[in-house]
Formats: sequence, structure tokens, C-alpha cells
Amino acid sequence: MAKGAASVSDYRALAKARLPHFLFEYLDGGSYDEVTLRRNVEDLQNITLKQRVLRDVSSIGVSTELFGKRWALPVGLGPVGLSGLYARRGEVQAARAAAAAGVPFTLSTLSACSIEEVAAAEPGFWFQLYIVRDRGFVSDMIARAKAAGCGALVLTVDLPVPGTRYRDYRSGLSGSMRGPVARMKQVLRRPDWTWDVAVRGRPMTMGNLEPVLGANAALSDLMGWVGQNFDSSVTWKDVEWVRSQWPGPLVIKGILDPDDARECIANGANGIVVSNHGGRQLDGALSTARALPSIAAAVSGRISVLADGGVRSGLDVVRMLALGADFALMGRGWAYALAGRGQAGVAHVLKLIEAEMRVAMALTACTSIGDIDEQILERTGDQATF
Ligand SMILES: Cc1cc2nc3c(=O)[nH]c(=O)nc-3n(C[C@H](O)[C@H](O)[C@H](O)COP(=O)(O)O)c2cc1C
Repeated sequence: MAKGAASVSDYRALAKARLPHFLFEYLDGGSYDEVTLRRNVEDLQNITLKQRVLRDVSSIGVSTELFGKRWALPVGLGPVGLSGLYARRGEVQAARAAAAAGVPFTLSTLSACSIEEVAAAEPGFWFQLYIVRDRGFVSDMIARAKAAGCGALVLTVDLPVPGTRYRDYRSGLSGSMRGPVARMKQVLRRPDWTWDVAVRGRPMTMGNLEPVLGANAALSDLMGWVGQNFDSSVTWKDVEWVRSQWPGPLVIKGILDPDDARECIANGANGIVVSNHGGRQLDGALSTARALPSIAAAVSGRISVLADGGVRSGLDVVRMLALGADFALMGRGWAYALAGRGQAGVAHVLKLIEAEMRVAMALTACTSIGDIDEQILERTGDQATF
């Protein structure tokens, strides 16, 4: 159990103290002026719940079903690139914590540990896919996810071009000739991380990208590959192409518009993630809390609606469900915990989320996940539009 941390924001502070500066900034930051990043958190926190009393809430169930499986909570760990660098073999630790808690873990294409390494430790996780220029690489990733027994394919579609993240420039992660020197200085200031991850966590390869980057690739090779290989010509035809290769649950991530949600249904998706990439892409875009209700109404129960962006507590999970989601994903929330305290930190955050969900449900008179709907929202003032 992690001493001294009682919330996601406590883990954020631990992550900041433990990670080299450029890694913390990569994790914590968003694109441009970070307007959407802030909106995600603030709009969700501003959703007011209706307190109800004197109902029997002595027995509360928090489990739910999604894609034919029972999960202990309506919460999953969303894909976070490079999370394997936040702790030693980080994606393996996070996958283990998620499995022990009975919730899904999603491995990013841009992970430090490969699909095969995570599958050997903890199979059944979901795999997140980007469609890059090299379609042979994409087909190969789908085949590897299938062979590893991944439970769902999460196709991320909100990155046809990468949004600029000022913090990555300032920290030396991208765009600067002095980057490697700056990063090395920052690493030397974090001896605990250096010993745990950079020394004992070897080999430091680029996980799933090893076949294209080679075994000795550096972080800058990965960033270069990402910059060169994202494909801005991707369309619904490519979704159809992915669908034809993946027989399991297909989830399209990065939906912020009801018409796009309808297109996902027409193209054979089993679910969507209402997401703006955690405010890391189109700065100024709607927060997910604001986008969610009209998307959930457009989908109208035909496929599953997952949502992320700003989820930092169990209260936030309840809010996402009340706004129309079937399931919430966390990004930074679990990654801060992984950086702060490894697997134990992620396990602890999931426990905190569950405990807070139970309190929120008791005080809104919900005894099962199915009870959580828009009836528990206070609709006053600005919120009438939610
Ligand atoms: C450091 C970082 C890396 C991310 N990498 C990926 C990724 O590789 N693939 C992806 O689909 N989304 C990625 N995301 C977006 C998350 O899956 C998710 O949409 C977002 O973090 C949700 O917002 P939250 O961090 O406020 O919970 C990343 C987010 C962060 C913070």
C-alpha cells in the first residue's frame, strides 16, 4: 500500500518527484495552451450530483458487463504511450494491477513493453492500434494482438497529425538539438528512477516497434518514427479494412461528435471511446463531459459508449456514467500512480476509485451501476445544457 497518497493528485505529486522532468512533462501536459486539458477536468468536476437520503443503500454493486465480460468496476486503464518508462517494465506492472482488480488494461502501440511481453505476464488485455503509413506494420500488429489473445482492439483515430505540445519542446523531449543533453541532465537528477527503470529495467527497447526500429533504438528514434509515420489520409475505408482483420470487439477511440459516432456504428464498431486524447490534440475542442450526452443519445444503446478525459476519482466515474457512458477509462490517473509507486500504486488508485464510487452511489441512492443515469444530475443554470 502506498503510504502518504490518498488521491490521484497525491500520486501526481509523487510522479513529479520521481520521474525525470521530460517524462513527467510528457505525461502531465497537453497540446498548445492546454485549454481542452483543463476543460476536461473542470467540466467534469462541475457536474453537480443530486444528493438523496433515506433509501436503503446497505448493499451496493459496482460490477458491470462489457464486451461479454464481467468487470469488477466500470473503469479501465486507457492506453498511455511510453508508460513502460514510468516504472520498471511499467506496462507489465499496470496490466498485473488491472487484472488483480478485475478491470481491463489497454496497451498502447507506443509502449515500452511489447504485446508478447505483457501477454506472457498477464494475457487478456486490450490492444490500442494506430493506423500508420506502413499498412504492413498495421496488419502485423493486428495479427500479433490476435495471437496474444487480446480481448479488444482499440483503434485510435484522433491522431491523423500530432498536436504540438509546448512542454515537450521546453523539456527537451522534442524539437531541440540540445534535447539529449538536457534529458541526460534531468535523468541524473532522478537516481531512484535511473536505478529502477534505466538500469534494472533493461533492455530498454521500443516494445512493439522493435521490428521497425531495431533493438537499439533511442527515444528520439521513436519520436522521429511517430512524426514521420502518422497518416493523415486515414478514412472510414481503413476502419473497414481493420474490421475485416479483427474478429473480436472493435472500439473506436477519439470520437467527439454524434455524426462520427453514427459512422462508427455503420462501420461495424462494437464500441466507441468519447475522447479528445486527454487534451493532447485539438486544443479548444469540447471537453468530453460536454460532448458525451449528445453522443450517448445518438448511439442510443446500439453499441457501448466508453468515455475518458479528466477522470481523477470515483466521483468522476459516476459523473461519466450519469452523462451517458457505459464505462470510463483513465489515462493520466493510473499513469501517475504507476510512476509514483509502480504496480502497488495502480492497485491503490483502483481501490480509491472503487471506495469513492461506493460513497457517491450511496449518496445519490444508486445501488447498482444500472441505476446511474441522468436522474442523479442536478440540472441548474449552465448545466441545463449538459
Ligand atoms: C502520456 C500520455 C500518452 C498517451 N498515449 C496514448 C496512446 O498511445 N494511444 C492512445 O490512444 N491514447 C493515448 N493517450 C490518451 C489517453 O488514452 C486518454 O485518451 C487520455 O489520457 C484521457 O484523459 P486523462 O489523462 O485526463 O484521463 C495518452 C495520454 C497521455 C496522458
